[in-house]
Amino acid sequence: MTSSNPHLSDVASKTGYRARLPDENGRIDWPEQDNATWHTLMQRQLGMLEGRVCQEYLDGLERLALPEDRVPQLADIDRVLQASTGWQTAQVPALIPFNTFFELLANRRFPVATFIRTPEELDYLKEPDIFHEIFGHCPMLTNPAFAEFTATYGRLGLAAEPKERVYLARLYWMTVEFGLVDTPAGRRIYGGGIISSPKETLHALSDVPEHLPFDPIEALRTPYRIDILQPLYYVLDDLSTLHELSQQDIMGMVHKAMELGLHEPRFEPAPKKTA
Ligand SMILES: [Fe+2]
Repeated sequence: MTSSNPHLSDVASKTGYRARLPDENGRIDWPEQDNATWHTLMQRQLGMLEGRVCQEYLDGLERLALPEDRVPQLADIDRVLQASTGWQTAQVPALIPFNTFFELLANRRFPVATFIRTPEELDYLKEPDIFHEIFGHCPMLTNPAFAEFTATYGRLGLAAEPKERVYLARLYWMTVEFGLVDTPAGRRIYGGGIISSPKETLHALSDVPEHLPFDPIEALRTPYRIDILQPLYYVLDDLSTLHELSQQDIMGMVHKAMELGLHEPRFEPAPKKTA
């Protein structure tokens, strides 16, 4: 394991969670309550995902062979990711600056904040924990098209101006986090934000939200809120579209989207925070 920078142990996340640091062998000694939380979340989601998640995710899940009764160790995830697509995880304290985020992705390292939600926050969490990152994203990172697209996004983001990054972030949101894909078996989920949330799993495939065929420029122009069930999802024809997109001029699309401007939000503005 890298990045076990000791001073980071004092960095609490915005919501008060503290990342657990690995020992000199790169392993984290997770307390019983955290292992129990992982177990509850995983059991619940495994049942929920049947017939709803894409086959590529299930293939990745099988390769990763995640333990059900305890929080997985990052080194075990890394072995599988590296052999599949050259990716690995990166242990981080909590939310990280945009620059670090893009830099890690560009180097095929997926940031994982090593804390897990408390039992009181099982259903709604304001920031991504290890369950979201590992269970939600890592199985898809064994898929070459998804892995390539995610690394491309990192490379582009690293070189982009702040204003361009905000647009890029929408593309990421509408694919890596909240993407759907059509398959011969029917419409399926591949976005990690949906996969790690029981409510969103049911909502995304219900007839409540809008589904639109994936169009990168449209996705770049679509505002989102992070604290609500999404009102709109973009649907890929096939996951290979993400690979094709990686070969295209995404920054050109960002500029086009900036010219055209944002779509009207399909949601009420977020309530103002009271101090
Ligand atoms: Fe995520």
